[in-house]
Amino acid sequence: MSVHSTESGEASSRRSDSRAADRRPVTIHDLRAAKDRGERFVMLTAYDHGSAALLDELGVPVILVGDSLGMVVLGYDSTVPVTLDEMLHHTRAVARGAPHSLVVGDLPFGTYQDGPSQALASATRMMKEADANAVKIEGGGPMVAVTEHLVRAGIPVMGHLGLTPQSVHQFGGFKVQGRGRDAAEQLIEDAQALAGAGAFCLVLEAVPSELGERVTQAVDVPTIGIGAGPGTDGQVLVWHDLLGLSTGRLPRFVKQYADLRADIAGAVKAFQTEVADGEYPGPEHAY
Ligand code: KIV
Repeated sequence: MSVHSTESGEASSRRSDSRAADRRPVTIHDLRAAKDRGERFVMLTAYDHGSAALLDELGVPVILVGDSLGMVVLGYDSTVPVTLDEMLHHTRAVARGAPHSLVVGDLPFGTYQDGPSQALASATRMMKEADANAVKIEGGGPMVAVTEHLVRAGIPVMGHLGLTPQSVHQFGGFKVQGRGRDAAEQLIEDAQALAGAGAFCLVLEAVPSELGERVTQAVDVPTIGIGAGPGTDGQVLVWHDLLGLSTGRLPRFVKQYADLRADIAGAVKAFQTEVADGEYPGPEHAY
């Protein structure tokens, strides 16, 4: 069985003209049902229309327009400099390409930490201007009240605990979180509080596998792990990492399922050589 339903759903305002007739859009309730059935699912990041359209066509249930955008697309050193306008620009493109997948827009650093009102203003822009189906925010503690406020306003919220990259400077680097008894208990408490506040799903990043599993059992909403071991309900990877497009040292949790940098390099070199040799364009490419 799959997270996607083939039942025809009610009309929605989003991208209805480009939908396949036999697929209805994935909702937050489908993810909860998948957890209840014990069915694991994936989420992938995307930042542009073409990648999103491919993921949608492949039946990937959740697409995250992550603020990893800043590092893998925009060339920043961390996610901290990413602006809301940059996120809106890319989320809009993804949403246009993905009529069936659940599109989650990350709220970037500085656009929700000031509290519920600031968060609602930012999340409203994400839903109205970028056509996202949900937003993601990082952290526990004060984010519980923020989550409650957004959910009360009708905005689905995905939480994010563990290594929350927007706090990289607070952590002193990209380090595994939730190690040790107190830190683990705190993380479980945060997860339960976010779920209690109405978060429909929780991302768990870079925590020990045992903790990933404990959190997953402690909450009734689905968990999606990235470096949180095999015991979470879903797994997420960044598009560039999955496809072998990333450069530099990769975190231990990354598995590269393709080597597209090598494929692209081969194609570019072949093009250069054929042009230099006068082989391309051939008669079949000319008018
Ligand atoms: O920004 C992002 O891509 C993320 C995922 C790695 C979960 O937050």
